[in-house]
Amino acid sequence: MAKILIVYYSRKGENYWNGSLKNISKGNTERVAEFIQNAVGGDLFEVETVKPYSDSYMTCIEEAKQELREKARPEIKGFPENFEEYDTIFVGYPNWWGTMPMCMFTLLEKFDLTGKTIIPFCTNEGSGMGSSERDLKALCKGAEVKAGLSVHGAEAENSENKAAAWAKKSI
Ligand SMILES: Cc1cc2nc3c(=O)[nH]c(=O)nc-3n(C[C@H](O)[C@H](O)[C@H](O)COP(=O)(O)O)c2cc1C
Repeated sequence: MAKILIVYYSRKGENYWNGSLKNISKGNTERVAEFIQNAVGGDLFEVETVKPYSDSYMTCIEEAKQELREKARPEIKGFPENFEEYDTIFVGYPNWWGTMPMCMFTLLEKFDLTGKTIIPFCTNEGSGMGSSERDLKALCKGAEVKAGLSVHGAEAENSENKAAAWAKKSI
């Protein structure tokens, strides 16, 4: 049986939620990551940056824009152990400026992904997956990147059935 890893980045704190600012204690992408694990099993790994982004949504927006412009590779606190043992890797992230937060590039560039199956999922405020699937295909050389799941951030907490059905179909 394929060994499954679910890696994700998700930001708590002040977030844009259905058109207004709201403080959330659990990130939207984290919720979806947990639903996927409930549905198909596997190990969960949360990507955390060494330097946290601002708790203020508006400041974070600017920080992220700057990182994207600079093609930054922000340092992350750790990498999943025994990465080479996993065949199927769900990769979850919020849509930031049309793609993945740059820390996901830091993570994925570290590994040889040849022969692995990458399955993206993304929460967002309306831009869907943006260019992230294309960016993943360019980044994950030698891997098969499957069609992703887009979940509207505000609907993340009620997305269990949708996420479970998609995850089971994707593996
Ligand atoms: C820095 C930043 C940039 C964002 N850029 C976009 C965007 O381009 N398109 C979009 O639909 N949502 C955008 N959003 C909204 C997030 O994708 C959305 O709120 C997501 O569900 C947050 O997930 P999280 O709670 O797991 O971090 C952005 C949010 C932040 C903080």
